[in-house]
Amino acid sequence: MPLPRQVDAKTVLDAILPGKDVDGLHPVNAGLLQAGRPALAPCTPAGVIEILKRSGIPMAGQHAVVVGRSDLVGKPAAMLLLHQNATVTICHSKTRNLGEVTRQADILVAAIGRAGFITPEMVKPGATVIDVGINRITDRAEFDRFFLGDAKREVTFAKRGSTLVGDVHPKAFELAGAYTPVPGGVGLLTVAMLMANTVRATKMRRESSGGGAKRC
Ligand SMILES: NC(=O)c1ccc[n+]([C@@H]2O[C@H](COP(=O)([O-])OP(=O)(O)OC[C@H]3O[C@@H](n4cnc5c(N)ncnc54)[C@H](OP(=O)(O)O)[C@@H]3O)[C@@H](O)[C@H]2O)c1
Repeated sequence: MPLPRQVDAKTVLDAILPGKDVDGLHPVNAGLLQAGRPALAPCTPAGVIEILKRSGIPMAGQHAVVVGRSDLVGKPAAMLLLHQNATVTICHSKTRNLGEVTRQADILVAAIGRAGFITPEMVKPGATVIDVGINRITDRAEFDRFFLGDAKREVTFAKRGSTLVGDVHPKAFELAGAYTPVPGGVGLLTVAMLMANTVRATKMRRESSGGGAKRC
């Protein structure tokens, strides 16, 4: 994923055995996740929860605002936060007064796919900001908009002709109580969670077949 345009993603996903669906995208796993039953959850949102847990950031009773409602990130992130007893609001492209909603977030998860979309005015001071977005920028003016005066980024940009920026404007991180950088934040956990899901899938398959090593 993403698959070439001529390939129907739903048909391909439906063909995956749910027990081997380590990306957690099969509808059976999505349903199990929603029902709060043991499931293979999508790796990126699972990584978000792992980051929050390992950073000692409480979720229970907190207002979590998730911007984005994709099956891959937004929806499962909202569901996982709900299972951690957060009060969850999901926002999307039709949400009115988005900034007013995001400013209420104790935990703000940005999964939009637009470079620097969440600006400082949209963040409550002290909030935990989880930036899922990965956007490659190559344009000098855009680089300046986000990273003017950032010597380290300047070196990367000069060397590669591009750099990565999340869905959160770097200036907004200055207001946050805690945040995930891009790169080096959620992306790394996504890879780790894919491995964790692979081990989990194997264990679940063994348990459901009565134990012992089985051929996959
Ligand atoms: N770090 C990682 O490992 C990792 C993994 C996966 C994805 N990502 C990144 O995460 C980002 C999101 O990925 P995705 O797959 O969820 O993207 P997606 O399928 O394109 O979904 C984007 C979501 O953002 C919402 N949105 C778009 N414009 C908006 C606006 N102006 N205001 C409010 N909401 C808006 C969309 O709303 P509608 O539903 O109304 O259209 C949609 O729900 C991308 O940058 C992607 O590269 C990172």
